Amino acid sequence: MVDLRSDTVTRPTAAMRAAMAAAEVGDDVYGEDPTVIALEQRVARLFGHEAALFAPSGSMANQIALQLVVPPAHELLCDANAHVVTYEFGAAAAIGGISTRTWPFAGGQLDVDVIASMIRPDGYWAVPTRAIAVEQTHNMAGGVVIGLDTLRALRGVADAAGAALHCDGARIWHAHVADGVPLAEYGALFDTMSVCLSKGLGAPVGSVVVGSAENIAKARWIRKRMGGGMRQAGILAAAGLYALEHHIDRLADDHARARRLADALAPYGVVDADRVRTNLVLLDLSKTALDAHGLAGRAREQGVLVSVIAPRTVRLITHLDADDAAVDRAIAVLSPLLAA
Ligand SMILES: Cc1ncc(COP(=O)(O)O)c(C=O)c1O
Repeated sequence: MVDLRSDTVTRPTAAMRAAMAAAEVGDDVYGEDPTVIALEQRVARLFGHEAALFAPSGSMANQIALQLVVPPAHELLCDANAHVVTYEFGAAAAIGGISTRTWPFAGGQLDVDVIASMIRPDGYWAVPTRAIAVEQTHNMAGGVVIGLDTLRALRGVADAAGAALHCDGARIWHAHVADGVPLAEYGALFDTMSVCLSKGLGAPVGSVVVGSAENIAKARWIRKRMGGGMRQAGILAAAGLYALEHHIDRLADDHARARRLADALAPYGVVDADRVRTNLVLLDLSKTALDAHGLAGRAREQGVLVSVIAPRTVRLITHLDADDAAVDRAIAVLSPLLAA
């Protein structure tokens, strides 16, 4: 099977497993796991922040961060297709008592003036805005990278409003590799970030919340309340440390493979290959006679797995376990299906 449904399907490599097996561990709820502590310090340093907290998933890391920057009965602004409002099952409201309001999705592009115009100050009996969240890279937009200038402008908007800026950086590594922006430069723009080790980086489990020492101390409480305190988690943190060491630069290979997929499938009118800069390829079937479930079903019969993310949209993601031969196979299977 060639599995291009997600970059979460990777399995730890032999070398990663060896690092996990050799990890020194302790009880992390007591703050005694040296490998978790090393991972947290490493990630904080990478992004130029004071502290970080290991979390079991990207969703929990996002939700911990949102609770840090938005008190109950206050508001978060994000785009209508952001992961935090599309795939996290109302957690911001259910767990944090947070209202969310969305700006229209524009393919991952941000209109900073529109966002600025949405901010609601205190004092009008309307829910006051406390934070703005962006996604880098943007999943539903097909791995779009938000440019540094736009992020800087958004930081200005947040500062003017006294609002915090959160980054769902599940794939911030890909933005860093695609645009060559140092991770610390991204870090300097955000109050809180969640960054994921178990997507492109290939670790089996784990995300990290990044922020100030004060916020991360609070985050530890929030994580425990959410049931996310882990014990000998150093085994998992060791995979994350290994991934940071060995799997960031190689993301360029995933990007090149995604671009090759897009170039091969572009003649069928389903993708603008020039928009594919990271590891995601969205196929828009709206100008074909195909629907996404039909295409995915027929590809599966021939051993190629893809994701259906909308009735006429299929997503392909390249990753650590999808080599050149896998991409060749996907092109060979999908091309005749799209041509039919
Ligand atoms: C952009 C983005 N944020 C957050 C997450 C959540 O990560 P997890 O599945 O580890 O909860 C995902 C998962 O695919 C994602 O794509």
